[in-house]
Amino acid sequence: MPEMRVLTAHIDDPDQSNIETYIKNGGYQSLKKAVGVIQPAELIEMVKQSGLRGRGGAGFVTGTKWSFVPQDAPVKYLVCNADESEPGTFKDRLLIERDPHQIIEGIILASYAIGSEKAFIYCRGEFYEGLAKLKRAVKQAKEKGFLGKLDIVVHPGAGAYIAGEETAQLNSLEGYRATPRLKPPFPAVVGLYGKPTVINNVETLCNVVHIVNHGVEWFLKMGKPKNTGTKIFQISGQIAKPGCYEFALGVPLIEVIDTAGGMLPGRKFKACYPGGSSCNLLDDRDLNIAMDFDALAARKSALGTASIIVMDDTADMVKVAHRLMQFYQNESCGKCTPCREGTRWVVQILARIESGKGTFGDLETIERVCKNMEENSFCPLAVGAAPPILSAIYHFKGEFEAYIRRNPHAEKHPKMKLAYPYQFVV
Ligand SMILES: Cc1cc2nc3c(=O)[nH]c(=O)nc-3n(C[C@H](O)[C@H](O)[C@H](O)COP(=O)(O)O)c2cc1C
Ligand code: SF4
Repeated sequence: MPEMRVLTAHIDDPDQSNIETYIKNGGYQSLKKAVGVIQPAELIEMVKQSGLRGRGGAGFVTGTKWSFVPQDAPVKYLVCNADESEPGTFKDRLLIERDPHQIIEGIILASYAIGSEKAFIYCRGEFYEGLAKLKRAVKQAKEKGFLGKLDIVVHPGAGAYIAGEETAQLNSLEGYRATPRLKPPFPAVVGLYGKPTVINNVETLCNVVHIVNHGVEWFLKMGKPKNTGTKIFQISGQIAKPGCYEFALGVPLIEVIDTAGGMLPGRKFKACYPGGSSCNLLDDRDLNIAMDFDALAARKSALGTASIIVMDDTADMVKVAHRLMQFYQNESCGKCTPCREGTRWVVQILARIESGKGTFGDLETIERVCKNMEENSFCPLAVGAAPPILSAIYHFKGEFEAYIRRNPHAEKHPKMKLAYPYQFVV
């Protein structure tokens, strides 16, 4: 399956972030087809019919989310989630820095659909170039009169992964610490400053531009049923040409890997996290799996942000698990005990194993703590912290045991009893 560049069609044009070039390349045409031409409810229906699913990780149907906003509410907000902090994820950054007007155009359409006159772009604070490009794009769009009554605020993020979680982001935008809120009520009903708010990912909003420009039928032809459109896959780690590659959803994993130049010379594929770091890993039996929401969910992993983190036969899975859990420990907001304490305990145990002082009982403890995080935490951060570690242990148990055997006392402790929980669908 060849690359299919829709959102990234003009990404290589060095002047694409400038409004004149963006317009020359076909930009802002969708506004003429939608704003004031079709009713907002029709636009929502169109996006629903296209089957577009959110590209921020959860894959919720975008048109359905928009339809939850009470139409008669006097004040509504749109938030563009540009916080992008998941390990391995860098597609939004590409769109922000190289094609910011595509995002502004999507924001205008979404705001029109839900009836919002104020939109926020919550952009990762470390994206200095991106923030400047977005501010310039908003200014240029305003000067051209494309915004109408819409006010777009570019807001720098608060420097935390958890600020990407939608309700934590609302707290952060309101000036509070970025900690998640209880759901329900969902933001579409009670969101920013208590008003109905739609939060959409950068890539999701860009897709709306092309659905309006080319129509629902065109969009449905790309990908698979319930997994329509293209996706920007990011591939990183031990791979020849890391980067962003856009394909129709459902592309086999091996084709993304091959397009990214394949493995480094002399190396063999060992495993990958297919959807950012918060999912179960895949191994070499999964190379033909279809990269879409449903196929990966059936394999008990996730498409997530479609960020493929590749590991080859030189990767040390104990170090991988240890490093990833350090990330989750650092990023835990501390609000709930299973995550705040659990991530810390698992980091300590993995450090012990890595230093040759682990026991077989340690692996059982890791499993128990991870299950507790998955089942009893307040928000999806901890739910996503457990699978990458547990799947590394389940798939590569021997590597963990080899470290543990360096401890002369390890055999005195019970061996771990871990069931292999996956059904392979490929
Ligand atoms: C810890 C955590 C971090 C997240 N970070 C982001 C992010 O940086 N960008 C994003 O769009 N969604 C992120 N999400 C998902 C959002 O909560 C939300 O589902 C998404 O912005 C909705 O947009 P979509 O429907 O267009 O995908 C994160 C979720 C969690 C739990
Ligand atoms: S799961 Fe972690 S990040 Fe989420 S609320 Fe609890 S402590 Fe905070």
